[in-house]
Amino acid sequence: MTSYDFPYGFIWGSATSALQIEGANVEGGRTPSHWEVFCSEQPDRIAGRASPHLASDHYNRMEQDVLAMRDLSHNGYRLSISWPRLIPHADGKLNPEGIRFYNRLFDTLVSNGIEPNVTLYHWDLPQWLAEKGGWENPETIDAFVFYAEACFRLFGDRVKRWVTLSEPGCITLNGYATGLHPPGKKDFATAIQVAHNYVVAHAKAVSRFRSICPNGQIGLVLNMSPFYPSSESEPDRQAALLADGLLNRWFLEPALSGSYPEDMVSFYRDYAILPHMEPHDLDDIASSQIDFIGVNYHYPRYVSADAEKTSSSQGSLCRDGKFNFFSVKNLFRIQGCKQGGIDMEPDALTELLDRIHQLAPGMPVYITENGIGKEEELTPCGTVDDEHRIDYIKSHLKTVHAAIEKGINIRGYYMWSLMDGFSWLDGYSKRYGFLYVDRNTMERHKKKSAYWFASVAANNGFTDCKPG
Ligand code: FCB
Repeated sequence: MTSYDFPYGFIWGSATSALQIEGANVEGGRTPSHWEVFCSEQPDRIAGRASPHLASDHYNRMEQDVLAMRDLSHNGYRLSISWPRLIPHADGKLNPEGIRFYNRLFDTLVSNGIEPNVTLYHWDLPQWLAEKGGWENPETIDAFVFYAEACFRLFGDRVKRWVTLSEPGCITLNGYATGLHPPGKKDFATAIQVAHNYVVAHAKAVSRFRSICPNGQIGLVLNMSPFYPSSESEPDRQAALLADGLLNRWFLEPALSGSYPEDMVSFYRDYAILPHMEPHDLDDIASSQIDFIGVNYHYPRYVSADAEKTSSSQGSLCRDGKFNFFSVKNLFRIQGCKQGGIDMEPDALTELLDRIHQLAPGMPVYITENGIGKEEELTPCGTVDDEHRIDYIKSHLKTVHAAIEKGINIRGYYMWSLMDGFSWLDGYSKRYGFLYVDRNTMERHKKKSAYWFASVAANNGFTDCKPG
């Protein structure tokens, strides 16, 4: 038997985002985000033609959900605030009902001993901003900073840990290069400009945070899939480096070291797509030191150079029989995993953690998402036998444990997700939660993994007879 004991004070929690669970999209003064508009305008892009309108009805079941977290021995919870709920109109006025909801949520969490880790932007851009050009328009940066400041002032007394953006790489690529997510554009130059706008929005929010919440902590959450070359060939190796530069390093290096990776700046300059930068942008980036980095890791990706066209296809797990994920003409083709491969590769997480440690030794790291989505059914006993999820979490926790032993400063783990919810293009088809959500009644049922995780969290670790 091997014991995996975690450091004192380690955060054990799970993660969600507002659009994916809140529902009540037209209640409480909220207006639509660009996601609901995208889903209603292009319903065939979403599995089951689903929409996030009801999601998991968390808005109306919040107290019950926090009690479930307490039952699962959570001492932390990662969530996001819905921007269109807090600032529903272009006049910038704060919505009192939205403020009330988040006040209740944070009070309930704190009184149950659950530390909130709050993301400001998890993809739900207010439609009123999308109509003004969304993230392509630099005014959205100012609107984001205004919204961020409002959140820091309203909730900073109870929320001590904040995240500016979740997965800017993913939304850059899917929103503006592959067109899979709203606003559905396929223009590489625009994607690179938007990537810069995200970095500036992050940096400006960080510096406002310092003066409003001097004792709080703020970080950035990145979807840090490692990009491995599909073969040993030189073109595939170069393609993998490029994908890594575009989707990982373009966000990681400014956040950790204060400047863009030089090779990517040259690459964009050579292709004449270097983004427009205001004179103070690079100074803002250089002065926006973060307090922690959030790593979202689900599985690695494999890259080849044979990209004949820019295209994308939904789904990426080889087990689902889907292989090609997306490609950018003449640059790279990214796949979910190697042909015949697997969708659980905890070693790739080790590599990511080592890399962060090398770039910024001692930087606090949170695993802000790690999880697996499947079609699942309730058993007659009212649970889900999700042994696969237990295996998945356990193998990644062993990796996290080994990294901590090596001296990497990992402070917490948030499983994706607390409950089944709206999973973007996958609609409700893939279930990720500790809590099974019955789509007809909205009742929650604890899956087997939830009971297992509760005991791990309560014991601050676990024992296992299989070697790590
Ligand atoms: C991540 C998203 C998150 C969730 C998981 C499965 O990329 O951040 O919202 O949908 O994938």
